[in-house]
Amino acid sequence: MSEKIIIAIDGFSSTGKSTIAKLLAKKYNYIYVDTGAMYRAVTLFAEQNNFVGKDFLKSKALISNLKKISLSFHFNIELGFAEMFMNGINVEKEIRTLRISQLVSKVSAISEVRKKLVIEQQIMGKERGVVMDGRDIGTVVFPGAELKLFMTASADKRAKRRYKELIDRGDNVDFKDILFNVQERDRIDSTREDSPLIMADDAIEFDNSEMGIQEQFERICALVESRYI
Ligand code: DC
Repeated sequence: MSEKIIIAIDGFSSTGKSTIAKLLAKKYNYIYVDTGAMYRAVTLFAEQNNFVGKDFLKSKALISNLKKISLSFHFNIELGFAEMFMNGINVEKEIRTLRISQLVSKVSAISEVRKKLVIEQQIMGKERGVVMDGRDIGTVVFPGAELKLFMTASADKRAKRRYKELIDRGDNVDFKDILFNVQERDRIDSTREDSPLIMADDAIEFDNSEMGIQEQFERICALVESRYI
């Protein structure tokens, strides 16, 4: 492609946003930024410091400690994508646990948390040539992104994909807990006051309940190329 663009991929949890984003980044030699990993890392920090738990959230204490959190991505050649580091420690595995998934929507509803992360995301994308996935990329982080995709799929399909991922990596989880978590995060992410998950007016909706990765990828590449070469 002649000019580097910003590809914003938003949508509900476990819609395969990161799988598509990684493939696109590889094909076009773009940087991939998983913004969900950043919210998850802040949640891990909050949990470690006892600012959040199943039945409580100490937002004030978390807000006044936000400057102690330093986030960075480090590319892992073997895995082919960048892993999340929090204060110099690789937290990639821990941030994907169901435990963190159950707390992350509460933490990401805090405006000060969002402000901090949105600024970092805008800096990462300022040279363009980036594929960023999350909930508010096309609406808040990069409202001027050249290509905006909005991924959806039925809650049941998404929970099944997530369940398989966690079982495959050896986590001991119950399907009904995963389904509940997917539905609960949809609800909190879509109804929060600051930057709720909504589709940008100029986004293209992709329902992939019945679509495999390869088909989605081909369709999206055609879209990228027809518009931007
Ligand atoms: O993409 P994910 O499922 O790993 O994201 C985890 C949570 O982080 C999600 O439930 C809501 C929050 N999130 C957000 O509020 N804004 C983003 N841009 C990305 C994620």
